[in-house]
Amino acid sequence: MIELKNIDVTFEDKEQTVKAVQEVSLTVEKGDIYGIVGYSGAGKSTLVRTINLLQRPTAGQVIVKNQELSVLSPKELRTARKKIGMIFQHFNLMRARTVAGNVAYPLKGSELTKEEIGQRVDELLELVGLADKKQAYPSQLSGGQKQRVAIARALANDPEVLLCDEATSALDPKTTGSILELLKRLNKKLDLTIVIITHEMQVVKEICNKVAVMDDGRVIESGDLVSVFTAPKAKLTNEFINTATHADQALEKIRKHPSLLDLHANDSLARITYVGESTSTPLIASLYAQFGVTTNILFGNVEILQETPIGNLIVVLNGDKHQRDKAIAYLESKQVKVDLIDTSHTVIPLRRTKIS
Ligand SMILES: Nc1ncnc2c1ncn2[C@@H]1O[C@H](COP(=O)(O)OP(=O)(O)O)[C@@H](O)[C@H]1O
Ligand SMILES: [Mg+2]
Repeated sequence: MIELKNIDVTFEDKEQTVKAVQEVSLTVEKGDIYGIVGYSGAGKSTLVRTINLLQRPTAGQVIVKNQELSVLSPKELRTARKKIGMIFQHFNLMRARTVAGNVAYPLKGSELTKEEIGQRVDELLELVGLADKKQAYPSQLSGGQKQRVAIARALANDPEVLLCDEATSALDPKTTGSILELLKRLNKKLDLTIVIITHEMQVVKEICNKVAVMDDGRVIESGDLVSVFTAPKAKLTNEFINTATHADQALEKIRKHPSLLDLHANDSLARITYVGESTSTPLIASLYAQFGVTTNILFGNVEILQETPIGNLIVVLNGDKHQRDKAIAYLESKQVKVDLIDTSHTVIPLRRTKIS
């Protein structure tokens, strides 16, 4: 559906050269909800704007539906762009127009009659759950309602792709949830391909089936959501995931108060991740039964990603070193990922904290 091949975007002015996007290649399939996550300044907005050539790449190719956009005539490009809708963080509605006026705007100059446009607007507002706000002005709407209007407007020309640039970043968590639900519904109902860029892994976790992580203009990791979440390769990806699963808060607490753990020579602090139906309980029971290793759970949660449960535990394993090693090898043989957490770099050595 969308192929970006070796995209570079370089901004040059008198003072400096900014390589906003560097050598990015990625493929979005029809029906994907593709998340691109990264901190502010990573190059996400610039990259997503190349998909409809709002931003022309300095190098590389943008291919949408097997058509390379850069070779199109201005007229052909206008037609191609109609099939790519876009929404933004600050909604970009026209204040002087009603909700209906905003949604009808992209249909101006189309071959539809006034009545047909009216009908289409009603349909679109129905679709986003705003039929009763037709005559309202943007200033009379909540943030979530404004984004719904923007979505209806973006869908006016029946696009196949919807680009979302931080579309939920100005919204509270509950409203964010309802907008993400709406996007998910539109993805299914209209077979709409969606590209979501965000600085929040939480958003990606909620609805995306694929994800790319951007840093300093580059895609440093990408893949299907469950693989990236269960086996992240890059440190930054790990950081984003830990935020989304709240494991970072747990680790932060543990690092700040290592004395609370009262770790001894026979203890290891470990992060355990497992995928699928298998729950942790039988595994933990067998660590004791088979190896005499006890497991103290400090933190645990289960996420459902793309209908796949993913378990996350932070535990203290206690037992003889040799037995602990065996227990860890056993867990790994059951496709459970074990990462030992080093507490030695905490400011105060564990033993002394206990005395003071
Ligand atoms: N039009 C522009 N001119 C010059 N620099 C720009 C322009 N647009 C973006 N940049 C720079 O490119 C980098 C990436 O920006 P952006 O794509 O907006 O990142 P993100 O959306 O991930 O926050 C930043 O360093 C930004 O300052
Ligand atoms: Mg941006």
